[in-house]
Amino acid sequence: MTPSPLAMAAAALRAGHLVILPTETVYGLGADATNADAVAAIFEAKGRPRFNPLISHVADLERGEQIAVFDDRARTLAKAFWPGPLTLVLPSRPDSPVSDLARAGLDSVAVRVPGHPLARKLLSMVDRPVVAPSANRSGRPSPTTFADALAETGVSARAALDGGPCEVGLESTVVSLLDGSPALLRPGSVTRADLEAVIGPLADRPEEGRRSPGRLALHYAPEAPVRLNATEAGEGEILLGFGPVGPGRWSLSEAGDPREAASNLFCLLRAADRETPRAIVVAPIPGDGLGEAINDRLKRAAGFVG
Ligand code: TXA
Ligand code: MG
Repeated sequence: MTPSPLAMAAAALRAGHLVILPTETVYGLGADATNADAVAAIFEAKGRPRFNPLISHVADLERGEQIAVFDDRARTLAKAFWPGPLTLVLPSRPDSPVSDLARAGLDSVAVRVPGHPLARKLLSMVDRPVVAPSANRSGRPSPTTFADALAETGVSARAALDGGPCEVGLESTVVSLLDGSPALLRPGSVTRADLEAVIGPLADRPEEGRRSPGRLALHYAPEAPVRLNATEAGEGEILLGFGPVGPGRWSLSEAGDPREAASNLFCLLRAADRETPRAIVVAPIPGDGLGEAINDRLKRAAGFVG
């Protein structure tokens, strides 16, 4: 009997190879987190600086507890949002099998239980933590379709699982629970309000984002320059609207729905880029709720960091 694609992908991971895997947020490039050579190959494939730590993905909270120290708040968040698009930064367990390189030498670890059914099945089969950064080359928009993932890092992967287009379209929300008060390191589709409804106020420390090393560099950037809060496209520019735009024009969501806009964002940035415009200009997106995450990614695509 021919092994299933899932079984082959699990075997490839256990043997130290890289695998493209779908998650509900974006496609990831996975490796066995306990295998330092496999983790090194991820940094190599992405052209990613080694000071930028990776997220360890596990099948469930129980397996998460084998690599990180969970306090009550961490457990409460995990129970509220896992499986799903939330990553928790927690103290690493001293006996954790996750390689130092995956954590970029930090004594903390980022943990996530993804919601995509294929990702969860794969993680159960591998039965080891799997590091999976977004499957783009470093600095580029994250892939939200199988084809985009293959185009970015397919050459480095031994296997690739097609899970369809990513429902969320933005990378997971990252919350640090290292200090007294929880802090939002990366906004995502689990919004500030969603988190605060469960654990109370988050620390409002604007410098906090800088403590997530991956947030320093120019990110999510297409080739064309990106300009924000535009109402019109100039000569040779493409306007990504928000709301109804009329025939032959581009909209992140005709219905003005932030969920749809998030899910379309990276895909449309890539599609617009393929037309080699002078610039991609983007209509204003309301900044509340999911808009915080959308505007965060847009600002970085436009080169405004911090
Ligand atoms: O949705 C996602 O999270 C996707 C999918 C594939 O799961 N993965 C993803 O991974 O976005 P990546 O490597 O592109 O982003 C991980 C982010 C980076 O900003 C990194 O700096 C931060 O998490 N991070 C990882 N470990 C950390 C730690 N110990 N302390 C602070 N930030 C950390
Ligand atoms: Mg990334």
